[in-house]
Amino acid sequence: MSDVNKYIDGEIDRFQEELFEFLRIPSVSAKSEHNEDTQKAASWVAGQMRDAGLSSTVIDTPGHPVVLGEWREAGPEAPTLLVYGHYDVQPAEPLDEWESPAFEPTVRDGNLYARGASDDKGQLLLHIKALEAKLKGSGSLPVNVVMVAEGEEEVGSPNLVPFVKSHRDRLACDAVVISDSSMFAQGQPSLLFSLRGLGYFEIHVKGPSGDLHSGGYGGAVVNPGNVLAKIVTSLKNEDGSIAIDGFYDDVLEWEAQTREAIRELPFNESEFLEEVGAPGLDGEAGFSLLERLWIRPTCDVNGLLCGYTGEGAKTVLPARAMAKVSFRLVPNQHPDRIGELLRAHVAKVSPPEVEVTVEDLHGGRPWKAELEGPFFEAARTALEKAFGVPPVLTGEGGSIPIVVDFQEILEAPVLLMGFAPPGANMHAPNEWIPLENFESGIRAVAQFYSELGNG
Ligand code: BES
Ligand code: MN
Ligand code: MN
Repeated sequence: MSDVNKYIDGEIDRFQEELFEFLRIPSVSAKSEHNEDTQKAASWVAGQMRDAGLSSTVIDTPGHPVVLGEWREAGPEAPTLLVYGHYDVQPAEPLDEWESPAFEPTVRDGNLYARGASDDKGQLLLHIKALEAKLKGSGSLPVNVVMVAEGEEEVGSPNLVPFVKSHRDRLACDAVVISDSSMFAQGQPSLLFSLRGLGYFEIHVKGPSGDLHSGGYGGAVVNPGNVLAKIVTSLKNEDGSIAIDGFYDDVLEWEAQTREAIRELPFNESEFLEEVGAPGLDGEAGFSLLERLWIRPTCDVNGLLCGYTGEGAKTVLPARAMAKVSFRLVPNQHPDRIGELLRAHVAKVSPPEVEVTVEDLHGGRPWKAELEGPFFEAARTALEKAFGVPPVLTGEGGSIPIVVDFQEILEAPVLLMGFAPPGANMHAPNEWIPLENFESGIRAVAQFYSELGNG
């Protein structure tokens, strides 16, 4: 057994304790009441990087800070790897649906439950621990490393693009590696060939100057709730496709090879149905379930606000209505263009008797991987050695907007290898990670560095 794996054997209990410590900090980026916690999480991460043998600094931004870690002793001739992750988490609500409190990490059946266990604290920390194991277990690394841990991923990374641009020289690298996604199945590692992008909007409908008696005025005054419902239903066709003119113009037709590879992945639809717990599934005609999740765009209501929703009946004609609507986008769609098309569509279907506006929330571009090069090959070999089976290539329905910016600004390929289990309850109650994945992730990433040395 290698010195590095021996080091991990000796320290794994402490690594787990430290993960619990990290998870106890409620670093919810969306809520200002947690600003001190977010700050605390940043300092905690900086301390962990230091203990691992990196130099580290907490750099302020107009929002939550970025933690930068560096180890450059491989020398100027050696390649440099940038490791990215996020220390912020989603809000934990609804709190009463958690079996154990969101910020009190609890182990049940070898699985660790807490907000951020998979997204992304567990996966960020496993990278720091892999670096520690390499540096303390074998004394060195074959590449220089720069780590970027941000605290605003869950709110759309508003300050990270300016940060990457202004620190371009310091972040210069030959490849970027990120673990903020899932494995294809438990025990089956994967490398991503794509991520979807995101266009997120609010549609506001404004009618009368105030709420009205629905008997006294209903029938004569246009109801914003009825109009909003009509707008929302106009967004999709019966066959599951999106009804906005021009929406599919920039959608990439994937190579037959990729669609073939997706078809060959062993996937059990009834297990998926059980996991989501719905009576049935949705989808665009002509595409398989995995294609619908990975390589086709979507249109979904994420929130609706209108009228009386309390107990019992209140006969009211609401003055306004609002829908939060998001689109998951695929290469080569652009969120700005989708916003323009949505505005044109909404204007077309809205009656003149109400005022309808579309506001931008945030956006992110979709990403397509380059599946080649020494870093990709090292990752493939390392995952195979760590898990005993070679990784499969998969897509991913979620979004990590900074990925495309890293690729463009730093001119380096990005590699995504996730260690979360499928069905990790990211953003939902009872988020979890198997402790086994935390450990095998550490071993796989440490092996990745070893492969970079041999290759
Ligand atoms: N880690 C997720 C994205 C993800 C989830 C990738 C599952 C792969 C598998 C990330 O933290 C996230 O939640 N992203 C947001 C982006 C948004 C806030 C701009 C998303 O996808 O909704
Ligand atoms: Mn994440
Ligand atoms: Mn997330």
